[in-house]
Amino acid sequence: MVSQQPAREQWGSRLGFMLAALGSAVGLGNIWRFSYVAGESGGAAFLLIYILCIIAIGLPILMAEFTIGRRAQLDVVGSFQSLAPGKPWVIAGFMGVASAFIILAFYGVAAGWSLFYFFQYVFGGLNVAAEGASADFFVNFHTSPIHPLFWQFAFMATVTGIVFVGVKKGIEASNKFLMPLLAILVLVLAGYSMTLNGAGEALSFLFSPDWSALTDPAIYLAAMSQAFFSLSLGMGALITYGSYLSKKEKLPGAAVGVASMDSLFAIVAGLMIFPAVFTFGIAPDSGPGLVFITLPEIFSSMSLGTVYGLTFFFLLSAAAITSGVSLLEVAVAYFMRQFEWSRQKAAFIIGSIIFLLGIPASLGLGVWSDITLIGGRDIFDSMDFLASYIFLPLGGMIIALFIGWGWKKADAFEASDFGDTLLGNIWIWLLRVFAPVGILLVFIYSTGIWTF
Ligand code: PHE
Repeated sequence: MVSQQPAREQWGSRLGFMLAALGSAVGLGNIWRFSYVAGESGGAAFLLIYILCIIAIGLPILMAEFTIGRRAQLDVVGSFQSLAPGKPWVIAGFMGVASAFIILAFYGVAAGWSLFYFFQYVFGGLNVAAEGASADFFVNFHTSPIHPLFWQFAFMATVTGIVFVGVKKGIEASNKFLMPLLAILVLVLAGYSMTLNGAGEALSFLFSPDWSALTDPAIYLAAMSQAFFSLSLGMGALITYGSYLSKKEKLPGAAVGVASMDSLFAIVAGLMIFPAVFTFGIAPDSGPGLVFITLPEIFSSMSLGTVYGLTFFFLLSAAAITSGVSLLEVAVAYFMRQFEWSRQKAAFIIGSIIFLLGIPASLGLGVWSDITLIGGRDIFDSMDFLASYIFLPLGGMIIALFIGWGWKKADAFEASDFGDTLLGNIWIWLLRVFAPVGILLVFIYSTGIWTF
């Protein structure tokens, strides 16, 4: 049996919960990861599959996570243990905690880059007037052994500090105010970017699919894992956040709000980044450096570019912090309950371990770039691959099957606030059949065993 702690922390309001869930979802995933994965996977065809994955797989699983968390009022492992004692579903919980460690390790590295860029702009900006200068600048910085570690440390210290303070004061307060600001700035920058010469090319790259791209098995897995990553799905971040929600809040509206805002963010980020990619002759498949190479070009072409650069990287760092907080909270909530650690102790110990795990990810892009782990990938990409391509979709599949087949239908209707309605029934069938089969097909297809 799982012992229930007497006074579980709670969100201050429904809006606070929604913004925290949105803060978890919106992060480097929407801007940094989305743009480079879309760039590598050919643009529009990828975007189409990504949106399909969000609607048919992501949204039902998002609802499932909220439902599980609020019903159980426990961390990700405890939720499965208390709702289905002695059953194997809890594997998803352990995979979730493992994913929190792995994702935050490499996420912290990229978030550190964003912090560094912010401070660069504070102190006057980047001199990228010469052709290729912004790419060189990024490469020199992120491949150097020590410098990026300093910023990764600064990021991890901030995230740890917020989790240390607690759910309401730390997590909720920081989200309420930063997320709306980021939305406004991304819109303004996208508006500016659309006036650049490359805008037409960017629009066709993003919205007119080259159908032959659909024969490439790799884009399905890339799009599905991006959907999971971007929605913070499949590892219990939203189970954990749902567990701080009181019984009186309605879930389906919150789920739809989070999923649609999150996707919108990614699309607008695409409109911000790709016009610059084509205007400044940067290869769309430049990899994880894409935003760090393109955005300085945009800023240097704008009057007041330094101010925009400073604000943008501040808000991107803030978005990364709110996502990082949700990742750390998954592990902290579990260790607090399992080992009866205080929140402070758990945050400190786990935050430190994750910082250490991130060091090889950072070095793997520079001095250790010869080391390859999974399928020729460097350490950074291998961590991303293991967590985002394998653990998140697999965890999501287990979560879907858990509610779909492991719960009584009536319980699922009640706990989700759907009731026995048409939408409720559609949701159950998406969880029972469509989402798990979809995930399975993408897995099988992308291995290349099966082609059509
Ligand atoms: N969704 C976050 C982003 O887009 C990353 C994340 C993944 C957060 C998984 C929590 C869990 O940046």
